[in-house]
Amino acid sequence: MSNPIIEKLRAAVATAATRLQEADNSAAIEEVRIEMLGRKGLIPALSKEMKDVPPEQRKATGMAFNEAKDQLEQLLAAALDRIDAAATAAAATELDLTLPGRRWSVGRKHPLMQVMDDCVAIFRRLGFIVADGPEIETVFNNFDALNTPDDHPSRDRGDTFYFADGRLLRTQTSPVQIRVMTAQPPPVRIVAPGRTFRRDTPDATHSMNFHQIEGLYIDDQVSLGDLKCVLLKFAHEMFGPDVGIRMRPHFFPFTEPSVEVDFSCIMCQGKGCRVCKNSGWLEIAGAGMVDPNVLTNVGYDPEQCSGYAFGMGIERIAMLRYRINDIRFLYENDVRFLQQF
Ligand code: PHE
Repeated sequence: MSNPIIEKLRAAVATAATRLQEADNSAAIEEVRIEMLGRKGLIPALSKEMKDVPPEQRKATGMAFNEAKDQLEQLLAAALDRIDAAATAAAATELDLTLPGRRWSVGRKHPLMQVMDDCVAIFRRLGFIVADGPEIETVFNNFDALNTPDDHPSRDRGDTFYFADGRLLRTQTSPVQIRVMTAQPPPVRIVAPGRTFRRDTPDATHSMNFHQIEGLYIDDQVSLGDLKCVLLKFAHEMFGPDVGIRMRPHFFPFTEPSVEVDFSCIMCQGKGCRVCKNSGWLEIAGAGMVDPNVLTNVGYDPEQCSGYAFGMGIERIAMLRYRINDIRFLYENDVRFLQQF
């Protein structure tokens, strides 16, 4: 079924096609678009004649309009593509060999990852194997199996990110201890670097996500002296031979005894400065002898084996090593900052 409007639409598309074939710049193409589809163009003008079409032909005429519009859009797009391609080809032949070269900027590791890699390399040389665990953990691995009492403040919703299904973003790398020990019998000697999360308000020294490296050594005759030896060696490798360490009594649910480990201040060599708050010491790690309850929880016999564990913050070490005074620099990805490493 044909009527005068449908004929006119077909003619319009045919005219547009011819003109677009001849068009050799985008202005000519735009001209065609305005004449056909513009507010005062041919297609809107024709649609005003719709009211004269007998009702039984309305549907077919409407479809012809849609078809004509689609065809016009396609013709216009194809014409623009053709002109773009021609312009690119023309530009390619105008190669100016006298232009100065462009230097490629080479990417490199983020300072945090450099420090993480260095920590891992040091512990590998000391005989540790790298272990891994997920960032989304169970309450069991992150708290229960680590002997954390039900009312311990770290379990609080204000301190820890929980998912609706009850799992959580791990608040420490210590759950990797549980994963490794439940998967294999002693001896164990691993380090587990990774990302950790706490609901802290961000400031110069706090970030809601940060990194730790966990260490765990279980065997039949492990002592606190072994722990001190390994951490002292780490301190020397990371910050130089003049750094000393000390241990202060502390509390962690999963170690007994527990200690906090300080390194002598690398900024002032222990004399006292702003960074060490005039104490001469910097707090670097939490550590201790693995609590017998933890060993029991993973099916080890505390009469047969013992061991130490430690955990330290990668950001802290990176900030000391590179003299960075605000943790937020490590997460803003400002190229001016990152380029310095
Ligand atoms: N997981 C503790 C923390 O995040 C650190 C730690 C690790 C302490 C291992 C003792 C043993 O604070």
